[in-house]
Amino acid sequence: MPAGRKLEGRVAIVTGAASGIGKSIAELYLEHGARVVAVDLPGRSLEETGTTGSGSIRRVEIDVTAPDAPDTIIGAAVKHFDGLDMLVNNAGIAAAAQFEELTDEVWDRLIAVNVTAIFRISRAAVPHLRARGGGRIINTGSIMSATAGPTLSAYGTSKHAVAGLTKGIVLNPPLSHAAQTDSSLPSRRARVRTTASPCRRRSPCRCRARRSRRR
Ligand SMILES: NC(=O)c1ccc[n+]([C@@H]2O[C@H](COP(=O)([O-])OP(=O)(O)OC[C@H]3O[C@@H](n4cnc5c(N)ncnc54)[C@H](O)[C@@H]3O)[C@@H](O)[C@H]2O)c1
Repeated sequence: MPAGRKLEGRVAIVTGAASGIGKSIAELYLEHGARVVAVDLPGRSLEETGTTGSGSIRRVEIDVTAPDAPDTIIGAAVKHFDGLDMLVNNAGIAAAAQFEELTDEVWDRLIAVNVTAIFRISRAAVPHLRARGGGRIINTGSIMSATAGPTLSAYGTSKHAVAGLTKGIVLNPPLSHAAQTDSSLPSRRARVRTTASPCRRRSPCRCRARRSRRR
């Protein structure tokens, strides 16, 4: 059990919440008192997320690339929980292929899920985060946000784009705490890798302390 309920009263959206990292994040947030909108594709056992603990969860089965996904996902948080404090763009796919065998379809799908959906859902979230005086957008990156693999050209490109998009978002107040997490670490130890603008929190700010320790 966690030492405290650090997210009591907060509303969070977690995409890709039916399995893996997203499921762990959603359940950890619930443990800490957050109200969670869990999002995943239809038929991916999303009903199993958040069943073991208490807490308020709403499940939305939708493809994050669907034209109406931003409105449906953000709308669920606003309708059921009255607002939004945190958006975790975690849904992602990978595909391994030799570069010359990479098809247009695979490329387009990777960029659509891993990049464009993050852009569209984040854009729709901003007015609601602003209405709360600020918020968090956490985009699941990868070690491939900073490096490359021989068969991972499309995936690596998408995760580099996630890093660039995150840096862009972070420069837009009041989202100055938006951060990219390194998903190769377990969610409890997720590291903040990208913060680009002055922190507006009251001191002492752990975010700034972490940054200065890394220098
Ligand atoms: N597992 C790793 O080692 C690792 C390393 C680096 C980065 N990542 C990243 O972490 C994130 C989560 O990965 P994971 O390892 O937990 O994988 P996972 O496959 O267990 O989880 C991804 C979830 O996203 C969902 N998803 C995929 N496409 C979707 C779509 N179009 N709409 C809605 N939901 C969709 C899947 O159904 C799945 O439940 C991904 O962004 C991935 O790129 C994972």
